[in-house]
Amino acid sequence: MMKAFTLGALLVACTLAGGQAAATYDGAAKVFRIDGGNVSYVFGVNPRGELQQLYWGGRLGAKDQFSQAVPMPEWASFDSSYTNTPQEYAGWGAGLFVEPALKVTFADGNRDLVLHYEAETATANGFEVVLKDIQRAVYVTLHYSIDPATGILARSATIENRESQPVTIEQAAAAAWALPPAHYSLNYLTGRWAGEWTLTQETLNPGARVIESRRGTTGHQANPWFAIQAGAPSEDAGEVWFGALAWSGSWRITVEQDQLDEVRVTGGFNPFDFGYVLHPGEKLETPVFYGGYSAHGLGGASRLLHHFEIAHILPHRIGTGEDAAPKPRPVIYNSWEATEFNVTEAGQMALAEKAAALGVDRFVMDDGWFGQRKDDHAGLGDWYVNAEKFPHGLKPLIDKVHALGMDFGLWVEPEMVNPNSDLYRRHPDWVLNFPGRPRSELRNQLVLNLARPDVRDYVLDFLDKLLTENDIAFLKWDYNRNWSEPGWDQLPAAEQKKVYVAFTQNLYGILEELHKRHPKVELESCSGGGGRVDLGILKYADEVWPSDNTDPFDRLTQQDGFTYAYTPQVMMAWVTDSPHWLNLRATSLTYRMLSSMEGSLGIGADIGKWNDEETATAKRLIAAYHPVQATIVQGDLYRLISPLNGSEFSATQTVNHDKSQSVVFLYIHSTQEGRLFPRLKLKGLDPAAEYALTSIEGKARAGTPAAASGAWWMNHGLDMDPGFRGDFKAAAFRLDRK
Ligand code: GLA
Repeated sequence: MMKAFTLGALLVACTLAGGQAAATYDGAAKVFRIDGGNVSYVFGVNPRGELQQLYWGGRLGAKDQFSQAVPMPEWASFDSSYTNTPQEYAGWGAGLFVEPALKVTFADGNRDLVLHYEAETATANGFEVVLKDIQRAVYVTLHYSIDPATGILARSATIENRESQPVTIEQAAAAAWALPPAHYSLNYLTGRWAGEWTLTQETLNPGARVIESRRGTTGHQANPWFAIQAGAPSEDAGEVWFGALAWSGSWRITVEQDQLDEVRVTGGFNPFDFGYVLHPGEKLETPVFYGGYSAHGLGGASRLLHHFEIAHILPHRIGTGEDAAPKPRPVIYNSWEATEFNVTEAGQMALAEKAAALGVDRFVMDDGWFGQRKDDHAGLGDWYVNAEKFPHGLKPLIDKVHALGMDFGLWVEPEMVNPNSDLYRRHPDWVLNFPGRPRSELRNQLVLNLARPDVRDYVLDFLDKLLTENDIAFLKWDYNRNWSEPGWDQLPAAEQKKVYVAFTQNLYGILEELHKRHPKVELESCSGGGGRVDLGILKYADEVWPSDNTDPFDRLTQQDGFTYAYTPQVMMAWVTDSPHWLNLRATSLTYRMLSSMEGSLGIGADIGKWNDEETATAKRLIAAYHPVQATIVQGDLYRLISPLNGSEFSATQTVNHDKSQSVVFLYIHSTQEGRLFPRLKLKGLDPAAEYALTSIEGKARAGTPAAASGAWWMNHGLDMDPGFRGDFKAAAFRLDRK
């Protein structure tokens, strides 16, 4: 093995581009230190040879030094030093009782794995550290790299079998994070279809809290993100450690407070039903687990994460380094709620005309255009244009959309098949199934086994053909059920569980290849709403569909939850019809517009039925949205008043990066006892700069200055007109530096 920096007490420092990050290895003390943004991350090799976590938190002094890691002592005869010592990547062996990072079974039945430090290499922005079992040739390379601006670390592992026999991996984390004993609260996101993005906040107690998906995909029910705060949850103050897993398959994050009250967060492939056979010479790459730290509460944590996603994760970025950012999303129209499956050339053209008149940038035709797709019983898998609905193919509609000054997007659901389809009749063996067992349908559909090379090729080919033959700017990529009977009978019995890794790798592979062949085509990740939102898919997806629930009031809490983990840049929000189909709640168009304008705005209503007044309102607000959109979706987000816990009010504010513009949204759920909207103290402005206040919707109280300093808006605050009362009311303002 290459040993990069092992020359006794030599201290090697490499300052990273931008001068804000550093990765140093103190060879004498065997201590690795990585600094970036306001963060330091430190680990070392203890005298036994284990890689031990030493520190993760606020940035330390450049000259501060750590001594060699000292393992935690034994606790009586029950908890060994091995289990008490927080390790960077612990093998299950030697009596480990906490969550392991890696658990394997060797061909001879041995299941003991103890990983010791072997070598390290400095990389451009961090380290690669090699661990090896104390006897056997299982190697694990841990990858570390830090973002100089945000201090967000990317961690992952490569597991390699250099034995002469296969090794079965039963559990493989991307990384494990640790925090010392203290009082902490835990934040995570849960939900269900139409109810995604519920922020759950609880005191961290002894034992383990498991957040996971066993569904083959990310899932609505929990999202692979966590935030741990010192003390009680706070939006603005206090230390927060957070992380997000970049994986769109089954995943698990285990947050443990162990026997000595240390906290460990271990995340990666979900070990449930996992079994990956690594043949001699083979490697398994884990997903990346990103982790960050903020001293400014949950708000500070999400601002760092948003910045990181925009600068480093999302596709179609313009610029390089920390200045890179994708363009704000086009304002879209989507036909789903207007027409459902009943799409026709004439009907879509009529909607397109109306959408263009509103100022929409992109027209998206949803489900129903292909195969024998009259409803959800048939057609998935048959990706030819339905000739009854579109006798001349898609071209006349696309040409019309272009002539109206919009680009064109199309719905697909590539990984699925209806049993009532030509594809299934031809290839019944292409779906996930256990031969001879029932195949459970959900929404009358089955999941194609994308892990199979022939299925992968079919999906790639039809999408490539669709994009080659039609001028399509955007695909809404849907995925409307979770796995059942996840068999892959092409492989030997012992290897079939590889499906959990290979399916998702092939999905990413297809997206990568499509991106190469059609570099301009943009993508939305949808899974019956927010069932596939994670930092893995966001490398390929320009946006996501957070929920099928488009009720504008529900959306306020959903959007609040969403933004703890993900930037509003990707948070699509359509304005749909009232009363809403889900809650049967009636709201004004203005309220619906302003709820959606918090994210990346779209229209999903049956706009053909809108009267002149509604058309004018939407047109006016789309026109007001466009010039401030970049601030709203890419600026620093401050959640001024939370909509949670039955709050009567809520408010958010965003400030762009040079602090020249800010946008404020204010919402009333239901006024009680005549209570006025509270005075709203703004945040994040330049105190010395002068900002002019302009209403986008609603009135400030008489006497509010037309312009005032950032200090005034932040210290004195904004008062609303007393007429701002009632049910489901909304207002919005912009502040522009003079
Ligand atoms: C899913 C999506 C919807 C719509 C339908 C079409 O439910 O989330 O937006 O595209 O599928 O069948």
